[in-house]
Amino acid sequence: MDIVPSGGPCGASVTGLDLTKPLDDQTIADIRDAWLAHHVLTFPDQAMSDDDLERFTLYFGPFGDDPFISPIPGRKHIIAVQRKADETSPIFAESWHTDWSFQEKPPAGTCLLGVTVPPHGGDTHFANQHLALERMPDALRVKLEGKIAVHSARIPYAKGGVYGDEDRKTRSMDIRASDEALTAEHRHPIIAKHPETGREGIFGCIGYITGFADMEESASMALLAELYQWQTRDEFVYEHKWKPNMLIMWDNRSVLHRATGGYEGHARLMHRTTIGAR
Ligand code: SIN
Repeated sequence: MDIVPSGGPCGASVTGLDLTKPLDDQTIADIRDAWLAHHVLTFPDQAMSDDDLERFTLYFGPFGDDPFISPIPGRKHIIAVQRKADETSPIFAESWHTDWSFQEKPPAGTCLLGVTVPPHGGDTHFANQHLALERMPDALRVKLEGKIAVHSARIPYAKGGVYGDEDRKTRSMDIRASDEALTAEHRHPIIAKHPETGREGIFGCIGYITGFADMEESASMALLAELYQWQTRDEFVYEHKWKPNMLIMWDNRSVLHRATGGYEGHARLMHRTTIGAR
């Protein structure tokens, strides 16, 4: 197994493995170490099936709970992140976020398998939140120390939300906005220690974060906006470019991510699983 760092703020390419075959315990442990060190791993040239994707995911934890998006037919734990060639709906997940951070135990990681990869565009961006904290100016850090962020599914997944009833008219992804999004809310410290490495980072950003506990709304929004400007700076961002037959896995406790467009006229289909927190 060869691990080549991206040279950017996070990410490494892993080669020398065949993920269509079961892996031994030592290889799984080595991948986990690389994942914790680089936060985003890319595995090129892996023509994986859905069975392979599920097997790979379960090496790193149980499946996560994926609400609001229906799984693909015949699978309970794989969702399709998809866009048709002629689709006009906004790009799914184009805002920075960490997956399902409104859950009590958000997923440790996410695996994304490129099934149909457009010839250009459709990159996935990752922002390293350990670096963002370590390089943060003291004046901003002081404002965040000890703050508890309120994470909610309301803005994207309520029926009147970004992916709500109106959006459903043009979107091919099977998103099921529901009233449950109005109460799907949990609080997490904005500065958090990574549960496996102990390294501190920023957890989450405005979007799923709708405010800070015990802080007035306009002050919360101003601080979240200031934080967002900082935590998504180019110096923290790795821009992942897809190739056909590529799998990536990222650590939701270490990075923010977002999808991007730029592939109008081309289809894009990714199969996604989440790795639940242990
Ligand atoms: C996601 O946030 O899971 C989607 C990322 C992507 O489509 O690149």
